[in-house]
Amino acid sequence: MGKRALITGITGQDGAYLAKFLLDKGYEVYGTYRRLSTPNFWRLEYLGVYHKVYLIPADLTDMSSIIEALKISEPDEVYHLAAQSFVEASFETPVATGDVTGLSTTRILEAIRLVYPETKFYNAATSEIFGKTGILNGGRPLNENDPFMPMSPYATAKLYGFWITRIYREAYGIFAVNGILFNHESPLRGLEFVTRKISNEVAKIYLGLSKELRLGNLDAKRDWGYAPEYVEAMWLMLQQKEPDDYVIATGEAHSVREFVEKAFGLMGLDWQKYVKVDKRFFRPLDVPCLVGDYSKAKHKLGWEPRTKFDKLVEVMVNEDVSRWERWLKGERFPWDAPNYPSESNVLTRALRM
Ligand code: NAP
Ligand code: GDD
Repeated sequence: MGKRALITGITGQDGAYLAKFLLDKGYEVYGTYRRLSTPNFWRLEYLGVYHKVYLIPADLTDMSSIIEALKISEPDEVYHLAAQSFVEASFETPVATGDVTGLSTTRILEAIRLVYPETKFYNAATSEIFGKTGILNGGRPLNENDPFMPMSPYATAKLYGFWITRIYREAYGIFAVNGILFNHESPLRGLEFVTRKISNEVAKIYLGLSKELRLGNLDAKRDWGYAPEYVEAMWLMLQQKEPDDYVIATGEAHSVREFVEKAFGLMGLDWQKYVKVDKRFFRPLDVPCLVGDYSKAKHKLGWEPRTKFDKLVEVMVNEDVSRWERWLKGERFPWDAPNYPSESNVLTRALRM
């Protein structure tokens, strides 16, 4: 029998790609989802895996639902991806972000310790935990030994998650790892993140559906990789003999301005005619530059990024243009007609009673 994996946050960008990746490897895949007023399964549908995964209702703030998800799925591997993941929103909801993005990692680790201590655990840590170190070191690519100096409530919550994962590894011998992933993007990226906001708006402007793009800090630099390649790194971390923490990145930093220039340029448009800087999109604090050194992952996991900046921008812009072109022809997409979870793949605690 294949292995069983439980993914928290299966409805998000990484969750959907990881579900597909694990299904292709022969895993039985379980994922938690939370009740929303409008269901959010479009990414799973987009990748054609919605009917191949088992869905378990759970909320990160509800310990009993997490325990139930473990009991239902009996996983060999848990990938903890669910979080309030938008840095900007964490300034608006700092307490809730601390609870959902930080404390929930402890809820899951406690549930694992109590119910399935043999389960291997992946924690979605982030390059955001380096924060200010990204500039204090003069822009040198950051590795696992660099100091953490978070600059947002989100990053602080993630740093808590990072340390509690290490503590459960050392205190209880749980196979628990942190993936310190730098930004990774794709056509499944949420529309509020800067790369997808740009690619989506460029497509609309190109097709005459929009006239301008409003952005914040154009000088910020990020290390942008391609999400489907990053989920493979998560899996590789759990296949090692010993649990450890790894940086996953491309090793290149590019500014938001460069992303804009490249994306508009691909469609033959002059970005300066369309982009307006809008103070609403500036953050109270913003990490100026993040770039990662993935040498350890290359050496120990055999992992390397394949899709770099130019190709990534191309993939995202082309996909958004193609979606809007099809939409103009009357084609409708999963997010236009959201599905409610079907009885066939939803598992609830009633099944265990
Ligand atoms: P994402 O697209 O925003 O997905 C977040 C997931 O968390 C969604 O499935 C969301 O469910 C779920 N979630 C949020 N609050 C929840 C709650 N209270 N209870 C249960 N589920 C909840 O994020 P992503 O880009 O896939 O990132 C995955 C993880 O990696 C996150 O932890 C993120 O912080 C971390 N990370 C991401 C990057 C990156 O560049 N993408 C880099 C480093 C680390 P709904 O669909 O219901 O909203
Ligand atoms: N979202 C957004 N919207 N960002 C903008 C905008 C805008 O209109 N204009 C400029 N930016 C700048 C932000 O200020 C930030 O410096 C940069 O673009 C990237 O912003 P996001 O795309 O929102 O990503 P992030 O780097 O803050 O966070 C993402 O990457 C982290 C890993 O480093 C998220 O995926 C986090 O969950 C993840 O941990």
